[in-house]
Order: sequence, then C-alpha cells, then structure tokens
Amino acid sequence: MRLILMGPPGVGKGTQAKRLCRYFSIIHLSTGKILRYEINKKTKLGIKAKQFMDIGELVPDDLLLNMMENRLAQDDCTNGYILDGFPRTIRQAEGLEQILANQDQELRGTINLSANKDALIQRLILRGQSSGRSDDTPEIIKNRQNVYWQQTAPLLDFYRSKNQLLEVDGFGSIETITQRIIDVLNK
Ligand code: AP5
Ligand code: MG
Repeated sequence: MRLILMGPPGVGKGTQAKRLCRYFSIIHLSTGKILRYEINKKTKLGIKAKQFMDIGELVPDDLLLNMMENRLAQDDCTNGYILDGFPRTIRQAEGLEQILANQDQELRGTINLSANKDALIQRLILRGQSSGRSDDTPEIIKNRQNVYWQQTAPLLDFYRSKNQLLEVDGFGSIETITQRIIDVLNK
C-alpha cells in the first residue's frame, strides 16, 4: 500500500504514520526526518536544505524530487510506504505521479488530517521545549503554517479531483485517529 499523509504542521502526521506502518507492515518515509538527518551529517543536500528549514520555508522542489526518486527506488519500498510530508507542492505531486508511473505502481490514496490552526500552534510550541527542532519556535511555527496554507493546501483539490482524497478529523486521542484512518481505508 502506498499512502500519503497530509495536513498542517503539528497535526500528527509523524505520530500517525508510525502507528499505521506497524499496522500495515510498510515503511514510514518522513521527508522532514530525512532532511534533518542530512543536516546532521552535513551533506551537500543537508547544507542546502538547512537554510530553508530554519526559517520554515519549503526546500526547493528539484532537491526534494531528486531525493525522493532515489529513496522510492530502494528495495524496502517494494511492499509499500506512508509518505509523511511529501508531496508539498503541485510540482512535487506531479513528480510523484511520474515516479509511480515509471514503477508501474499506484497510490492507495491521500489521507487529509484536519485540525484547528490555533490548537496546532500551541502543540508545536509545547513540543519545541523538548524537540530540539530549530523550527519549533513560535515565529517559525507560524510561518510553517502559512507556507502550508499557501503552497501545500492546493494539493487537496488536486487529489480531490482525482478521487484520491480521504478526509479524516485529526482531533481526538492518538488511538482514535489511527482507528479513523484504518476505517476510512477499509471502506
Ligand atoms: P516536517 O518535519 O514534515 O514538519 P511539519 O510538516 O512542519 O510537521 P511536524 O513534523 O511538525 O508535525 P506532524 O504533523 O508530523 O505532527 P507530529 O506527529 O510531530 O517538515 C519540516 C521542514 O522540512 C519543512 O518546514 C520544510 O522546510 C522541510 N520539508 C519537509 N518536507 C518537504 C517537502 N516535501 N518539500 C519541501 N520542504 C520540505 O505531532 C506534533 C505534536 O503533537 C507532537 O508533540 C505529538 O506528540 C503531538 N500529538 C500528535 N497527535 C496528537 C493528538 N491526537 N493529540 C494530542 N497531541 C498530539
Ligand atoms: Mg512530522
């Protein structure tokens, strides 16, 4: 199964992806996590990505597409995966379609986790006290939210028009939300 988890910063993409991967025995690919790893290793990609991530802006499409084309070609992707944080622009979504077509694979769907903006900002400010993520400060969190609504939210219509969008309420307990996602996939 190949699944996209979409939703604004802090909605619980990472939290839910971890649980769903265990449930479906597939792998979790978080582009944020991959990029943070590259930054720690001070790779060429990491050094380029850092300047965008530190201010809560998107890393350029070409870098992301190149990174994901390589990642999705690896053996551990054969059984399926959950994409957390990718695609984030129309260009990335089109790139992903191309990658899937080249591999003769299909997407199961895109889960849209929705939640109230102000509550999410509070969640991330709280997480920032212990996460060590340089982008979990109030100002950068607000910018990440704005970037989401301007550049990523248009993807909702993109997937809706292809009948690939599955809506899930992202408020409630972590367990409840996992069950909602499983239910929507089983429908
Ligand atoms: P990324 O790492 O993807 O960050 P994000 O989208 O801002 O989202 P978060 O990881 O902060 O939130 P989440 O939805 O995963 O929620 P979580 O489960 O952690 O991206 C970071 C940066 O990388 C981007 O800004 C960009 O620069 C770059 N980047 C990444 N992908 C890119 C791409 N494709 N193109 C270009 N640039 C890219 O939960 C949040 C908190 O809430 C946690 O503390 C959690 O414990 C808590 N929580 C979760 N669920 C619940 C619940 N149900 N109730 C209460 N608390 C909950
Ligand atoms: Mg995350």
